[in-house]
Amino acid sequence: MKVEFFRHNISETDIKNLNKVLRTLLITTAGVTGKFEKDFAAYLQCPHVIGVNSCTNALFLSLLALNIGPGDEVITTPLTFFATANAILYVGAKPVFVDVEAETGLIDPVLIEKAITKRTKAILPVHLYGQMCDMKRINSIAKRHGLKIIEDAALCMEGVRDEIRPGQLSQGVCFSFHAIKSITSGEGGAIAVNDSGLDKKLRLLRLHGIGGTVLTRVKDKIKKQDMILLGYKCNMYDLQAALLINQIERIEVNLQRRTFIYDRYQAAFAGNPKIIFPTIVAGSQSAKTMFPLWVDVKKRDKYLVDLQNQGLGVDIKYHPVHLSTYYRRKFGYKKGDFPLAEKISRSTITLPLYPKLKDKELDYVIKIVNRVIV
Ligand SMILES: Cc1ncc(COP(=O)(O)O)c(C=O)c1O
Repeated sequence: MKVEFFRHNISETDIKNLNKVLRTLLITTAGVTGKFEKDFAAYLQCPHVIGVNSCTNALFLSLLALNIGPGDEVITTPLTFFATANAILYVGAKPVFVDVEAETGLIDPVLIEKAITKRTKAILPVHLYGQMCDMKRINSIAKRHGLKIIEDAALCMEGVRDEIRPGQLSQGVCFSFHAIKSITSGEGGAIAVNDSGLDKKLRLLRLHGIGGTVLTRVKDKIKKQDMILLGYKCNMYDLQAALLINQIERIEVNLQRRTFIYDRYQAAFAGNPKIIFPTIVAGSQSAKTMFPLWVDVKKRDKYLVDLQNQGLGVDIKYHPVHLSTYYRRKFGYKKGDFPLAEKISRSTITLPLYPKLKDKELDYVIKIVNRVIV
């Protein structure tokens, strides 16, 4: 049997929506994008959502909108996708990594506070594997030191911790609609903010610093156009929004199915002494977007190969950012700088976890994992 690492969940309804929009006049950023933004804001219970073309650019524009730039430092985790730290570099600021908690892999709030300097302007926590960071603690640190928070919730639109959802204790939260995310348009992203001034600025930044949309321009007979600030080309457009709109209604059903799969994995591997996995903090709801196994570092690569030879689509989420060639060369990072993030990364095997995973595929994954990892 072959089990893919991920299969998207785009339905016939989504494809029909896309076809419908393809037959309209304005297929760029227009009414459908606006509707998606409203519907997604309602789902998140956040007042403002700005649709963009990736989570990477959502992070980049959010940092820009908060005036973070050269000379500033932003504290983040090395256990994430490169995009998180790269966004900090794009605005000319310096990513300052701190290590993670051993049990969850999430950024360690104690270490955040220790890393704060006069140059620190913001904290960029990442809700890893779908589990939210301790936003209450991170928010209280930020308040004490006058720092901003931008959340990377690429994997966590469904998370809840201490009754807090993404975006409720920060200046902004960034989402991804990349191919293997909870809802997808192949590529895409969004920023949710609480402040209407920030919303306005982000709308300018996402499209060349020009106010309005194609809808306002079509109606304007004088065809005025002005550029207010140096913006970028990061707008979500209606074909992406058409694919996403109906998926919002399925977020909760999909979460239930992922939870079922996650719980089956947990139960099946709990008795295997060679496997551990991250702890889900009591009282929190993880979005359960990824199931990482943490295995013996020395055997991980062999397991990876053996699992793939048995037809399992597996991956490593994530490689430590600071040990990539670029970050080593630029900042002089070396092995051992963030030992917990490195150990977790070197022991990780990420399993297939998505709503379309069939029961018989799930049974097969469990059987093979317990046969290979001994
Ligand atoms: C944790 C995390 N942050 C940011 C991103 C970037 O998302 P996008 O591909 O939409 O730019 C990803 C993508 O995989 C991610 O996993």
